[in-house]
Amino acid sequence: MYAARRYLMCPPEHFRVTYSINPWMDPDKPVDLPLAIAQWEDLRDRYRSLGHTVEELEPRPELPDMVYAANGATVVDGRVLGARFAHAERASEAAAHRDWYRAHGYTEIRKPDHINEGEGDFAATASWLLAGRGFRSSPLSHPEAQEFFGRPVIGLDLVDPRYYHLDTALCVLDGDDIMYYPPAFSAGSRAVLARLFPDALIAEEADALALGLNSVSDGHHVLLPQAAAGLFGPLRGRGYEPVPVDLTELLKGGGSVKCCTAELRPSPQP
Ligand code: ARG
Repeated sequence: MYAARRYLMCPPEHFRVTYSINPWMDPDKPVDLPLAIAQWEDLRDRYRSLGHTVEELEPRPELPDMVYAANGATVVDGRVLGARFAHAERASEAAAHRDWYRAHGYTEIRKPDHINEGEGDFAATASWLLAGRGFRSSPLSHPEAQEFFGRPVIGLDLVDPRYYHLDTALCVLDGDDIMYYPPAFSAGSRAVLARLFPDALIAEEADALALGLNSVSDGHHVLLPQAAAGLFGPLRGRGYEPVPVDLTELLKGGGSVKCCTAELRPSPQP
């Protein structure tokens, strides 16, 4: 169901690729920073033109991956499960996110015991909280999230390092409607997904490699990398409206639309 959403994004003012913690990152490949900023602003402005609210988190010069705001926390039912990063390079992002939520009226904020990279590995459907593991988030973060949110968590094993976060291989479109790329998951997890989501949209390799699953749906519009053109027809066929965006510079850090977008479900009452 289409509804106005509230997102948190972090401008890529200090974005660069100086280390490599996923196979997409090559510190020898130059990043065009003005282009990265323009592409990011275009994404932010599109959300706003669709009627959504975009909050902005202040970027920090020593945290070049901070633009991937989806990793900083998971917010469901107004409750904030903070992140704990797998890599030291990103560790300080977690406190910056928790501080933002504290300053913006959220009262239920948990500093996690176990490693979890926020919405990189947690995806809320109407019935479940899907949770990735294998590369970043600890399997122990799954029961922690289930206890904190009181939602059933479905653990999914990621097996291909290019799809190191759940949100690089799976996207929630609406309710319990999802799209995903099966080869990113173990055989058992593929069977679980097929059982829970028999009608899911199954992505082809070319679209997965364009990070086409790293998209954001408001229940009607699906903002996704423009190179993932193979998904446009199938999305339209299910009643969604694909909104292609160009985020090629941010792809150099291993992320696209969803990585740049944390969803605040729902906003706290004044
Ligand atoms: N360079 C970042 C990392 O490897 C990219 C994070 C992408 N974010 C995401 N939600 N998948 O941690």
